[in-house]
Amino acid sequence: MFPELEKVHDDAKSSITAITDAEALQAWETAYLGRKGAITLLLRSVGQLPKDDRAAFGQRANAIRDELEGLFRDRQKAIEDIALARSLEEGEIDVTLPGRTTPTGGIHPATRTLRQIYDIWADMGFQVFRTREVEDDETNFGLLNIPPHHPARDMWDTFHTTTPGVILRTHTSPGQIHAMRRFAPGPIRVILPGMCFRYEQISARKEIQFNQVEGLAVGTNIRLSDLKGTITAFARRMFGAERKVRFRGSYFPFTEPSMEVDVECFCEGKGCSVCKGTGWLEIAGCGMVHPVVLRNGGYDPAVHSGFAFGMGPERITMLKHGITDIRYFWGNDLRFLEQF
Ligand code: PHE
Repeated sequence: MFPELEKVHDDAKSSITAITDAEALQAWETAYLGRKGAITLLLRSVGQLPKDDRAAFGQRANAIRDELEGLFRDRQKAIEDIALARSLEEGEIDVTLPGRTTPTGGIHPATRTLRQIYDIWADMGFQVFRTREVEDDETNFGLLNIPPHHPARDMWDTFHTTTPGVILRTHTSPGQIHAMRRFAPGPIRVILPGMCFRYEQISARKEIQFNQVEGLAVGTNIRLSDLKGTITAFARRMFGAERKVRFRGSYFPFTEPSMEVDVECFCEGKGCSVCKGTGWLEIAGCGMVHPVVLRNGGYDPAVHSGFAFGMGPERITMLKHGITDIRYFWGNDLRFLEQF
């Protein structure tokens, strides 16, 4: 037995039981286990002992050190527990602290515009009629007065599937055929919204997928003036009552006559980068349904007439919000989407 070792051992064990705070515990560790602590100093003094005692002394001192280190860890844990319990008991809950927010989703800007478009057309008596995105060549082109090898096919670069004759629709116009065949010979007033696909080089102005909203009215005595009035009413609701609208003669194989619709740019005719200095923005193609198409849909062009239009909601959204690159729409970049 080495009384000096046992004394340090007893002192350390009895003094640690009274310790209840981290600071005092730290001091205890320094006093006994630190670089100049009692145990450390004793261990270092082994060399001055008579040779025969050294091994036993060293062994006992190491055992005491290990034991004290264990006591230190236990006490440290106990003090932390006490501190936590105390803070829970004493501490008030600060009800003014802001809570963790749950991120909420929003409506995609294209969907937003689509819904606005539905509302406006609904007010004018147009119902939504949905048709397929995967079409056959015949409905997408042939029945719309665009036979194979017609040069106008160049207007719609096409994604073909591995099934011959089955393609991704390049526009919503084939929906005209589906609607007419469903309702002929009755009157029609529908819009046909949905995704279209074109085999294009993607750029700031062109995407390979985009929405269109087709419109179709078929009945008796429907005239070009009805088309112009209806489109103008739409544009005023969409862009504001003062906004000017202009119709330009154009060409589509499935309408005759055909026109394109421009609205006055937000730069009010001054000319900016969005309108490329022209002061006008193109928002739709339209025209009177071609007699061939009416016949393909099951109507008699001698009795019935109709108008059709096709507009691009992404285009309209870009104009309304000054978005300069169509690639943002399907890029899934939250920094873009979160702004709406
Ligand atoms: N389908 C035409 C296009 O994609 C737009 C259009 C629709 C034109 C209806 C006239 C009538 O360019």
